[in-house]
Amino acid sequence: MTASKITLGIETSCDETGVALFCSERGLIANALHSQVDLHAAYGGVVPEIASRDHIRMLLPLIQQVMSEAGVERPDAIAYTARPGLIGALMVGGGMANGLGLAWGCPVIPVHHMEGHLLAPMLEETPPDFPFLALLVSGGHTLLIAVRALGWYEVLGTTLDDAAGEAFDKTAKLLGLAYPGGPLLAKLAEEGDDAAFDFPRPMLNRPTLDFSFSGLKTAVMLAVRKAEADGQLDDVRADIAASFQRAAVDTLVAKTIRAAETAGLDRLVVAGGVGANRLLRDEMAARFPGEVFYPRFEFCTDNGAMIAVAGAMRLAEAGDVAEIKAVARWSLESLGVPAAA
Ligand code: KG4
Ligand code: ZN
Repeated sequence: MTASKITLGIETSCDETGVALFCSERGLIANALHSQVDLHAAYGGVVPEIASRDHIRMLLPLIQQVMSEAGVERPDAIAYTARPGLIGALMVGGGMANGLGLAWGCPVIPVHHMEGHLLAPMLEETPPDFPFLALLVSGGHTLLIAVRALGWYEVLGTTLDDAAGEAFDKTAKLLGLAYPGGPLLAKLAEEGDDAAFDFPRPMLNRPTLDFSFSGLKTAVMLAVRKAEADGQLDDVRADIAASFQRAAVDTLVAKTIRAAETAGLDRLVVAGGVGANRLLRDEMAARFPGEVFYPRFEFCTDNGAMIAVAGAMRLAEAGDVAEIKAVARWSLESLGVPAAA
């Protein structure tokens, strides 16, 4: 029998400091998250320098917190988000992971942030088996990926302009909602009529699996301007939110179904911040022909648990522990399949 291994996961790619401990036998044994949303709200978006400084402030106390909660003196490995993300923020997590790795004499595993998102459902009681299709919808990415095995990722579609979460955030801003607007827009949409505005379903009629959200954003902007000019914005704000959300979700669901047919995959993982969207979940459940897997709500958005489990899986398969750099852009397709897969 192989001894159980504990992996410390560290996430600092953007504006959440996430730390967790994942045990190969017991699963997730501790998790802590510090959100910087309040710090950035006044600026209407994430300020990279403020993000780095707050990660420095919070990271070590959070690591101490999860270790004492779980009664762990030193983990067997440390996984951290190495890329992509805000370069200064990534360097805080990378510096901490490598420093602790040296001190504790344990392997340090660089994790691709989006691999963390796509493996987040592995934290749940019934995780998906490989292969599966993944729809990754976050603030920075919209990706349809054929996940053949751990590390074997084929990008089938991506966005040509805004990411899905970015489209939610920008639309929310147009409607006067605070940052990050995605969840607030979804809430406002509950009070609106989603058929009130006939917004475009971008690129739906084209065979490509790529997305484009800028046309939809422009259509919303024109509707907002017209309503403002007519002095009716307050009357139609919720209708615009609901119609936008319906158009965005319709597009995501239709392209996902098409990608599953193209790739011959009948299991689906939906992850990333927009994966927390209720309408997206309901529509996917109603329309996707196969089984759909999600991380629990708190693990759709950025967190340390998904990095810990991704690192633990890589460690179990191949001990992929060599690299220590932080890099802002990184292709998922370049990761490589572990030798044992
Ligand atoms: O994965 P994530 O936490 O960070 C990135 O890696 O980008 O995703 C954040 C994004 C934001 O754009 C946020 O507005 C969006 O996810 N989001 C939502 C919802 N919750 C978070 N968008 C729509 N509906 C939601 N319920
Ligand atoms: Zn993310």
